[in-house]
Amino acid sequence: MKILVTGATGFIGSFIAAEGIRRQYEVFAGVRATSNLQYLPENVATVTLSLNDKERLKQELTALGRFDYIIHNAGVTKCRKKTDFEEVNCGYTRNFVEALIESGTVPDKFLYVSSAAAFGPGDPKSLEPVRLTDTPRPDTLYGQSKLKAEEFIRSQLDFPYLIIRPTGVYGPREKDYFVFLQTVNRRLEPAMGLKKQYLTFIYVTDLAEAMFLALESPYTRKAWFATDGNVYDNREYAAIVKKHLCRKTVYLPVPLFLVKAVSWTLDTVGGWWGCTPTLNKDKYKILRAVNWKCDAEPLQRELGFAARYNLDKGIEECVQWYKKEKWL
Ligand SMILES: NC(=O)c1ccc[n+]([C@@H]2O[C@H](COP(=O)([O-])OP(=O)(O)OC[C@H]3O[C@@H](n4cnc5c(N)ncnc54)[C@H](OP(=O)(O)O)[C@@H]3O)[C@@H](O)[C@H]2O)c1
Repeated sequence: MKILVTGATGFIGSFIAAEGIRRQYEVFAGVRATSNLQYLPENVATVTLSLNDKERLKQELTALGRFDYIIHNAGVTKCRKKTDFEEVNCGYTRNFVEALIESGTVPDKFLYVSSAAAFGPGDPKSLEPVRLTDTPRPDTLYGQSKLKAEEFIRSQLDFPYLIIRPTGVYGPREKDYFVFLQTVNRRLEPAMGLKKQYLTFIYVTDLAEAMFLALESPYTRKAWFATDGNVYDNREYAAIVKKHLCRKTVYLPVPLFLVKAVSWTLDTVGGWWGCTPTLNKDKYKILRAVNWKCDAEPLQRELGFAARYNLDKGIEECVQWYKKEKWL
């Protein structure tokens, strides 16, 4: 079976490619000229895909021939130019789907890696999890761009899509949650605002497995949220990180107005210097939300998904990796 994975050079994509190899697929990574191939697993073939240029993409897809499955994982979670959310997450997805249809190379299944942010956080009062049947209310540019991409895919008649909406994904090589680990390692435990936050996570290898369960299932034209099935509050999360880093910390609840001011400043200054800070205006809205619960029960029931990692086991493995690679 031939599978094409876009964004395979990134954090999640490299684990998807590795899971494909483990399952004995012939794995192709869609890359661009500037892609850093450092973490691409062995035995993965690279193919150039011009996601930004539909006509060229059609030629490239025709030359490659039809794949059995495609996982479209390439995307931006933060960007310097805010219009890039729309252009990359939505525009490139549209180019890709149209190029597949127009070149007659639609795969058996096309799995789109969306995000829980496409639905936005759950109700902060009822604290109910976000469910598949809820009306999406993305409150970030990132989430809006992922939802728009989903809507475009779903609007294509008979297009054999699957959509996975992961919550916070963590694991070796991840760089955003890593900032919190670094801070705890320096003996500080910052908290966003004064309210308890309810967080959900999925370990990256579990997410990759869930994607293949979806591809290998009888389902098409269907979406799932992906979490490890547990809910952690922010103090539990911090306690697990502290345990594995063997650190005692100073607890530092930062009022939201201050987090907002810092996010705005970093975003502006980052823009001048041409970099994209981890803490930025869009990320602030994700960080301030109190309810990131989402319903993973359909994923478990319909695909037989059972996370191999809870946060405790996952963070332990991450800390070992970050230490081994001298990130910590
Ligand atoms: N990390 C999370 O917690 C999380 C949660 C939910 C959903 N997701 C989704 O998961 C996917 C992967 O995220 P990640 O965390 O693994 O991010 P990442 O490490 O930054 O990887 C992003 C990948 O997308 C590719 N990409 C980015 N911009 C591109 C462009 N303009 N043209 C072509 N390729 C481009 C990158 O390729 P290059 O190597 O060429 O830059 C890279 O391979 C994204 O779609 C994201 O929305 C992530």
